[in-house]
Amino acid sequence: MRTIYVQLPQGGYPIHIGSGLYSQLPNFIHDLGWDEHRPLMVIADSHVAPLYGEKVVQPLDEAGYQVSLVTFPAGEHSKSSSTLEKLTEECIRAGLDRNGAILALGGGVTGDLAGFLAASYMRGIPFIQLPTTLLAHDSSVGGKVGINHSLGKNMLGAFHQPSLVVFDTDTLITLPRREVVSGFAEVVKHALIYDDSFAKWLLDHHVQLNDLHSEYIAEAIARGCQVKADVVALDEREHGLRAILNYGHTMGHALEAISDYTYAHGEAVSIGMVGASLLGEKLRTARNVHHYTKEILAAFSLPTSFSGPWSNKQLVELMRRDKKALGGSLTFVLPKGIGEVVIQHDVQEEVVSEVLQELRGGVE
Ligand SMILES: NC(=O)c1ccc[n+]([C@@H]2O[C@H](COP(=O)([O-])OP(=O)(O)OC[C@H]3O[C@@H](n4cnc5c(N)ncnc54)[C@H](O)[C@@H]3O)[C@@H](O)[C@H]2O)c1
Ligand SMILES: [Zn+2]
Repeated sequence: MRTIYVQLPQGGYPIHIGSGLYSQLPNFIHDLGWDEHRPLMVIADSHVAPLYGEKVVQPLDEAGYQVSLVTFPAGEHSKSSSTLEKLTEECIRAGLDRNGAILALGGGVTGDLAGFLAASYMRGIPFIQLPTTLLAHDSSVGGKVGINHSLGKNMLGAFHQPSLVVFDTDTLITLPRREVVSGFAEVVKHALIYDDSFAKWLLDHHVQLNDLHSEYIAEAIARGCQVKADVVALDEREHGLRAILNYGHTMGHALEAISDYTYAHGEAVSIGMVGASLLGEKLRTARNVHHYTKEILAAFSLPTSFSGPWSNKQLVELMRRDKKALGGSLTFVLPKGIGEVVIQHDVQEEVVSEVLQELRGGVE
């Protein structure tokens, strides 16, 4: 087992990563100082609950905890106020009181939704993240939780740090291939923004990683979590540095939205990172990053170009409306080199359009 600590002023939390960890949940929870009188509510979506619900509930039940399991329909559409309302009702009916805690078992959708419920239920109760997708090595760390509104993604949310993160890597075996690939985009992102030796390691071992070789996957998740933990420790509430985690996301979010989410999050972010590397070279924040960026993403079968009927203008308009854009100016996280980025405000629309043109059909 590997353990990473997120260090925060109000006290941090551990991230345990490894195989077969759910059987140790009672010990991890005891280490938090939570005794058996704390009622626990496991929340999982309709795909994950039948696969892993019992594996989480049983050891806790045997250890004497009062533990219930509640499910909701899988998918991004469940990150909504109506699902939140239904889950709230289930928690009240199950007798979850202020002494209770929530365990979010699943991918980023479950973590964001159940985390937001924990942040607001009875003015906030503690919660634990049990990520089951590769992407969720990112979303389960750092305390950003929330739900979508029909007018925008993640429009209602909070900062609510988990008390513990337990990533049982055995769960990745059942993850659909496309979700595995999508998750690698965030792993590569963590390397490209903060750790060039991690990027090199990913490229050197992409064969074992693509095969989900457990030792390599655990190492990749741990190193990715380490980057996230370091960045969050320095800027928990995104006053500055934390924004670097949005690398590839300005363009990525626009592609996700314009395609009505037919691009998986990681696929869109992958194209966005290639876009950022081109933009960085054009604006001279970096040299010789574009080719390397494409190479590392392609090694994980991630897309590095796009095609679609949308105009550059439409895409740029979406980028201007991005939650991170201030006052409609175009803001990008751009490479300085491999493993280092810089935040650039007021990027000119013409240069962004040039990049979009080059990204279409993969023109060099
Ligand atoms: N809070 C943050 O910091 C943060 C960061 C990045 C992304 N996110 C959010 O994360 C969400 C995307 O997360 P995701 O890609 O994990 O999506 P997801 O939670 O919808 O999971 C993807 C699919 O895989 C299924 N699944 C999950 N684990 C499985 C397993 N082990 N075996 C089989 N099937 C499994 C799910 O049921 C779902 O159908 C988005 O809503 C995004 O906004 C949040
Ligand atoms: Zn992301």
